[in-house]
Amino acid sequence: MSPSTRARKGRSLGARLVEAARAQLRRAHAPYSRFRVGAALETRGGRIFAGCNVENASLGLAICAERVAACSAVAAGEKEFVRIAIVTSAGRATAPCGACRQFLAEFAPRLEVLMVGRGGVKRAGLQALLPSAFAKRDLP
Ligand code: THU
Repeated sequence: MSPSTRARKGRSLGARLVEAARAQLRRAHAPYSRFRVGAALETRGGRIFAGCNVENASLGLAICAERVAACSAVAAGEKEFVRIAIVTSAGRATAPCGACRQFLAEFAPRLEVLMVGRGGVKRAGLQALLPSAFAKRDLP
């Protein structure tokens, strides 16, 4: 594959990832916070797994979109992730919550995080968002 073909494919996969995250906003179950979140995870092999936040009348049971996407991928046999795109109904580029950072670091400490806002996409490495993540090596 030529470098330009690779660049084109890279761009289109990134655009598909953002689109998959955006599409999930409609599926969010967020009647309590009214804050809808969509996330889409890209695997090393180029597959995309998406998720939305799922709230519950027992408020503490809410599950974030990022973790729904990760669980969906793991349940399909995928554990190697390279990128995640996150979109929220607030329209601002929003970073994943601390619990989701830790959850994602389990599988992909070097994950690229795309935070999509109306004004554009902010990028950050998961390592920068969660330095010193707790990991398997910390267990006795
Ligand atoms: N939420 C996410 O889905 N992802 C995050 O990273 C932050 C928060 C959801 C959980 C809850 O349904 C709503 O946003 C408000 O906290």
